[in-house]
Order: sequence, then structure tokens, then C-alpha cells
Amino acid sequence: MSELRELFLRRVAQTSAAPLGLEIESAEGSWLRATDGRRYLDLIAGMGVAALGHGNSAVLAAIERQARRHLHVMVYGEYVLEPQVRLAARLAELLPAPLSRVYFTNSGAEAIEGALKTARKLTRRDAFVAFEGAYHGDTTGAMALAGNPAFRTPFGPLLGPVRHLPYDDAGALAAVDSSVAAVIVEPVQSEGGVRIPSLDFIRELRRRCTESGAILIFDEVLTGLGRTGKLFALEHFSVVPDLIVLAKALGGGLPLGAFIGSDEALAELAHDPPLGHITTFGGHPLSCAAGLALLEVLTRERLWERASRLGALFCESFRRLAGAEVVRIRNLGLLIGLEFPSAGLTRAFVAESITRGVVVNWTLNAERVVRLAPPLTLQPDELDFALEAMGNALAAASKHA
Ligand SMILES: Cc1ncc(COP(=O)(O)O)c(C=O)c1O
Repeated sequence: MSELRELFLRRVAQTSAAPLGLEIESAEGSWLRATDGRRYLDLIAGMGVAALGHGNSAVLAAIERQARRHLHVMVYGEYVLEPQVRLAARLAELLPAPLSRVYFTNSGAEAIEGALKTARKLTRRDAFVAFEGAYHGDTTGAMALAGNPAFRTPFGPLLGPVRHLPYDDAGALAAVDSSVAAVIVEPVQSEGGVRIPSLDFIRELRRRCTESGAILIFDEVLTGLGRTGKLFALEHFSVVPDLIVLAKALGGGLPLGAFIGSDEALAELAHDPPLGHITTFGGHPLSCAAGLALLEVLTRERLWERASRLGALFCESFRRLAGAEVVRIRNLGLLIGLEFPSAGLTRAFVAESITRGVVVNWTLNAERVVRLAPPLTLQPDELDFALEAMGNALAAASKHA
């Protein structure tokens, strides 16, 4: 074992008994390079972060420029920082009205927390509604919304009351009543196994929230910024939530999240008390400069259209290769779920894929589903490499699972 790996296992807090443990030397485009010289095709893009691949030159140049100008200067919200202001303005241009006022955070979970606080203050109500299979992050508020009790139970008591309803079941939405401050939903459930809800479900959700006065929060931490074949997944449903939460790709590879709503909604955070929601590093100038560069590339190249085309091509090809009886495939753009008949085969497939130089992983709340979220810039020859390696991985996994 290398000295670095030994130190990693001894000194860095571990999140499971079986970390992947790839020792990373560098990353470029869709590829990771390990210290032993091996290359791995990154089909999860650092878990949905590297939308432009690793080390995009425009993003790196923006980071370098901003680093020379200034790093952190003051707690969020006090000084006028050009990258922050320009990124907020660009997001407001790209999102439908009235989503035009941006609060920047360090992460997805922190943005979820801000959205929950905003909803409580706006409505003066207690309760939240979330969905079975959901994942919204691991702070105690975000975790209270998690749709898998196995993750909530050891850490309770968490924020409450939270009612968990079945996902994609319009009939269950009658439970959204006048006690509910907010309903939080992923427009496609990712850790829940890449579940794509019906138009009816999302539209009925909008209707119930409007009727009951509950704030509708879309968690687009993973689905936002081109991943699903639209710039924002809300476009698939022609529904506008009251608040939208972004993170992951937003910082172009640096930590950045945001929750975005109307002027009136976000104004709640500025009074009674003033400074009732602040952050030191949220909206860091480096992250915002990188995010702005990412948005420029994404919109100039209309990468969501590429995601839509590549997602369809990948799924069609893998379906032919694997056989519909072995793997059920779902996708919206480049958010792809491969559902296997057993958890054993799923795990074996992941291990065999990595052995063959393709990084994939499974999902937290659906043990038979492998979720892919590759860079939106994935190249055709990389897609071919992935298909061949994954076809071989499936054959090998089927033998010993
Ligand atoms: C849908 C969704 N919401 C929220 C989060 C939490 O984001 P973060 O890990 O930046 O706190 C994640 C992270 O995976 C996510 O997938």
C-alpha cells in the first residue's frame, strides 16, 4: 500500500468501510489519471459536478484571473463583488420569472437549509413535505427530508415535522394542506434510482401548493444546468416552483450552491431580524467567477442539447448490448439509471466497470440502480470506450453474481 493511501485510511475521516480509494494524480476532460498511471473514464463527473469535464480552459482562466484580483474579502452580502453580482444576474436572466433573486451558499445542503428557512418565515408554518427515495443533503435539516429512514434514524431527532409521501403519486398530494410550509421535490430523483415522474404528478404538485399556500421548492442540485437535456429540469414540466436550489455544477468545479426565488421571498432574509441568515464563504468570488465561465460555455454551446442527444444514444446502444431482460434503462438527458435484477449484480457490475477503466457508482436509496452522470462534453469515442468496457463488465459480473 502506498504511503499516501495508508495515511488516507489512518487520518482522513472515512465515510464507509470500503472507499473507492483511487489515488488521483490529475484530471482532464472526461478522464481521471491515477498515480499508478492508469486512466479512468469519469462517468459520474465527480458526482454531477464536472459538467464541462475536468479542467475546462475557460473555467481555469476565470479562476486564475479572479485569484489574482482577490480571494475572500468579507462575509457574504456586505461588499459588491463583481463575479457574484454578474453570476446572480445571469442566473436571473436564464430562469423563468419570478425566480430572479439569488442567495449563494457553499453547498447544496446549505442551500436547502436556506430554502427551508425562507419557506418557514414566509408562511409562518412548521411542516415540510418530502418524498420517499429523496436525497437533499446531509445537514440535519436536509437529512430530515431524506426519503430513506435508514439514513435518518441514527441521527434523530432531526428537523420536523416532515411528512414523506410516495414519489410520483398524484393521489397522495392531498396531504399537502394549510399546515405545510414547503414541499421539496427533485424533478428527477437521483439517489432514489433515477426516477422520472409524470407530468401529471409535478403539475398536480404545483396546483396543490398554490391552493394550500405551501412553498414549492425544486431541488435542482443535480438536475440543473443542462444535465437532463434542458438548461433546468423544470422546463420538462412547464412548471415554475417558488424556490429553486442549485449546486454541484454551478461552481464549475469549485464549491458553490444557491437558492433562488422572487424578490419578495428572498427579502424575508433581510429583516426581523436583519442578518438572520448569513454565511462567511457562501458565494466565494473564485467559485462565482468559475460558475460564470461555466454558464458562458454551457449556454454558448447549448450543451443541454448535446446531453439530450448523447443520453439517447448511450441508452439505445447499451439497451442493445445488455438486453432488456438484464438491465432496465431510464434517462433524462445525461442523467441515466441502469436497473439490474439484483443488488449483487449491481455491485459486481460497478466493480468490473472500474477494473476496466470506467468509473460508475450505485445510488444511496435504490440498491439495484447504477446512476451515470457523465460530463456533458463526453466525446463520441469516449462513449464507445464506455460501451465496450461496460458490456464486458456486465458479462463478467453476470458470471459471478
Ligand atoms: C439532489 C441533491 N440535493 C442536494 C444534495 C446535497 O448537495 P451537497 O452535497 O453539495 O451538500 C445532493 C448531493 O448529492 C443532491 O444530489
